[in-house]
Amino acid sequence: MTTDTRLAADFYLDQENEHAAHNYHPLEVVVERGDGAWVTDVTGRKYLDCLAAYSAVNFGHGHPVLVEAAKKQLDRITLTSRAFHNDQLGPFVTALAELAGKDMVLPMNTGAEAVESGIKVARAWGYRVKGVKPNEAKIIVADGNFHGRTTTIISFSNDEQARADFGPFTPGFVSVPYGDAAALEAAIDENTVAVLIEPIQGEAGILVPPADYLPAVREITTRHNVLFIADEIQSGLGRTGATFQCDNSDVVPDLYLLGKALGGGIVPLSAVVGNRDILGVLRPGEHGSTFGGNPLATAVGHAVVDLLATGEFQERARELGERLRLGLTLLIGKGVLAVRSAGLWAGVDIDPALATGRQVCEMLAERGVLVKDTHGSTIRFAPPIVVEPTDLDWAVEQLEAVLAELSAS
Ligand SMILES: Cc1ncc(COP(=O)(O)O)c(C=O)c1O
Repeated sequence: MTTDTRLAADFYLDQENEHAAHNYHPLEVVVERGDGAWVTDVTGRKYLDCLAAYSAVNFGHGHPVLVEAAKKQLDRITLTSRAFHNDQLGPFVTALAELAGKDMVLPMNTGAEAVESGIKVARAWGYRVKGVKPNEAKIIVADGNFHGRTTTIISFSNDEQARADFGPFTPGFVSVPYGDAAALEAAIDENTVAVLIEPIQGEAGILVPPADYLPAVREITTRHNVLFIADEIQSGLGRTGATFQCDNSDVVPDLYLLGKALGGGIVPLSAVVGNRDILGVLRPGEHGSTFGGNPLATAVGHAVVDLLATGEFQERARELGERLRLGLTLLIGKGVLAVRSAGLWAGVDIDPALATGRQVCEMLAERGVLVKDTHGSTIRFAPPIVVEPTDLDWAVEQLEAVLAELSAS
């Protein structure tokens, strides 16, 4: 960062430092605007956004169709609460249910709320349909999971940083190794109501399970009358070259958990999507959210579903993803230890002897590329799917240059 840039950014950094809770450690880039895959900071400097707000900006910053849907709805009505009906919710849930091949949608706001809602639905289904004894319901999750930050969700996290000093924790969860279908089956007993997993573990570093894992989870859960809940909040809605990552394994879970890109990077919008025999267990008054299903969010969400229904974004993510994978794979042995990817989503393990993930992210930011580290030495690439192929190549070149610089020092 040059001195000028530093001074212009300092104003905002100081305010955040003084008055915003320190629950994040962002890179020192103060973004002012965005267009497609690019963002501009307060000094006018441009950066290629290779994080896309953890896949919430899959369609790019300011996608004209999504912005238009939001603007149109802003002028009409933005919030009614679910005490009344609104004319956006019905069309949105109809379109999303059709896209997912399911009957019903439970709209919420954040990803964590969708996960919490999925847990409540699974427990209610367990007691009311499966016949599990009261308060005995058990949900199986996977080691290394990331499903959000609420107290119940961190109760089944293995990340000590996410849990320390936030107990006591919610009981009723059992964690088994990710990617190990036999371990999952062994953990099932008569009280098990659901298996909750990410089809790819994003925050863990884009961990892609063995090809036979999701089909095995589907087969095992069906055989034991246990719900299969796929948290597609980060992996879904185009990122991995399909509408859902489960599609890539020809697997259909009982419940999809969606969020992030569902709100087009404009509004928080999440959802649980499933069939009537499961989502239908909820009765009036048992669950809700003041903003869940609001007309502004569902107007944007409907436009998102329409974009996905064309299949264009999924195809583009597949094609560009292959280009990204090839480019990154060439860096193995030049400071990169391993690359894992699915569609336009890649985790790159940096040789810890060379630098931390954070250092690499800082050096990339200096060169105009924004990415984020996870678990010490992994960085992930998840640019908006609208990114230009040549810009993607350029980002990989910047990583190569950073690694060369580090190797030379
Ligand atoms: C797989 C997964 N589930 C849930 C969440 C939580 O979403 P939110 O931050 O919107 O609560 C995330 C966020 O990164 C996620 O990646």
